[in-house]
Amino acid sequence: MSEKRVLLIVGGGIAAYKTLELTRLLRKAGVGVRPILTQAGAQFVTPLSLSALAEDKVYSELFSLTDEAEMGHIELSRSADLVVVAPATADLMAKAANGLAGDLAATTLLATDKPVLMAPAMNVRMWEHAATRRNLATLKADGVSFVGPDEGAMACGEYGEGRMAEPAAIFDAILGMLEGGPLKGKHVLVTAGPTAEALDPVRVLTNRSSGKQGFAIAGALARLGARVTLVAGPVSQPTPAGVSRVDIESAREMLAACQAALPADAAVCVAAVADWRPDEAYRIKLKKGRDGPPVLTLVENPDILATLAAHTPQRPRVVVGFAAETNDVEKHARAKLTRKGCDWIVANDVTQPGVMGGADNTVMIVSKAGVERWDRAGKDEVAMKIARRIAQDLA
Ligand code: C5P
Repeated sequence: MSEKRVLLIVGGGIAAYKTLELTRLLRKAGVGVRPILTQAGAQFVTPLSLSALAEDKVYSELFSLTDEAEMGHIELSRSADLVVVAPATADLMAKAANGLAGDLAATTLLATDKPVLMAPAMNVRMWEHAATRRNLATLKADGVSFVGPDEGAMACGEYGEGRMAEPAAIFDAILGMLEGGPLKGKHVLVTAGPTAEALDPVRVLTNRSSGKQGFAIAGALARLGARVTLVAGPVSQPTPAGVSRVDIESAREMLAACQAALPADAAVCVAAVADWRPDEAYRIKLKKGRDGPPVLTLVENPDILATLAAHTPQRPRVVVGFAAETNDVEKHARAKLTRKGCDWIVANDVTQPGVMGGADNTVMIVSKAGVERWDRAGKDEVAMKIARRIAQDLA
């Protein structure tokens, strides 16, 4: 690790004291740390402590003649393998999300061509504010990675999500990004979103799948270092950073795209594939006529999950399916595991409010080894747990 370097931007929040510990952990592991301390950050930790622990000069001024003479802000922004922002305050996130460049930290974030990791820290209300939500979504879409924040008691006396991740967790995330992550060298195939089955040139049979969970899983796998092929039905989700996306419409196109993407080390079938399609897609638009409404004949679509799980000679080592159930979740998931021939099923109860199209998910993992029940969590968090479990299975 000795040649790896981190550019560490320290924002103005009480959690900045934890960044000193993070700096120590990084140096102990032989990672170079070049600190940028914002003006607000300097209200919480001193340049002297930061410089002593980093064993490097602390940069603070955008227009400092000495800094610019030694290293311009553009050069500084590219002098490391990774840019880390800890604590990433609401203010720094807003600046980065909007491309502002009024100080050294913001300019560096705008000028860098290196991966960026943010460890947000702020009051729970600030974290939950619609403006921060928007900025977070923008930064994720721009390819910024995040670690934390955690839930817990806050320095301001409130309780909730917004505590900066612990130094050890940020350190692990940094090492993962510097070393390429546990899925480095692995190819993972993910299906997501609905399929749309043509009836005629303007009409389709489809469903309400948003693609959120599948896209989050593709992003999480990429963050762990995997090469990810995401075969997506028609959705309006942004492509996660580092993911190569193949857009399709019908189940048959989805199957063809999946087969073309093989070999893969793992396949995660999250897509809500239409079970049936019209037996014939009319080449011209069906017209209202004297004969009354047309009678639709439906035929069954191919089962992509089952096809991949039974593929010879290119069955991915780990094949994961999803099950959205409204009753007897575990029983149905077990049956699906056998019927589809996959290695585990991520099952959820879609009668729970907010699961379909919402931000949260409560899932259970059903495999031959047994059942794991996971607490309700955000779809991003569930995605990262699934990605880590795949990494374990492939290790
Ligand atoms: O039994 P059911 O079809 O609901 O199973 C859902 C699981 O199967 C999901 O993982 C889904 O992505 C996958 N599936 C598929 N192709 C189909 C139908 C479902 O890959 N035609």
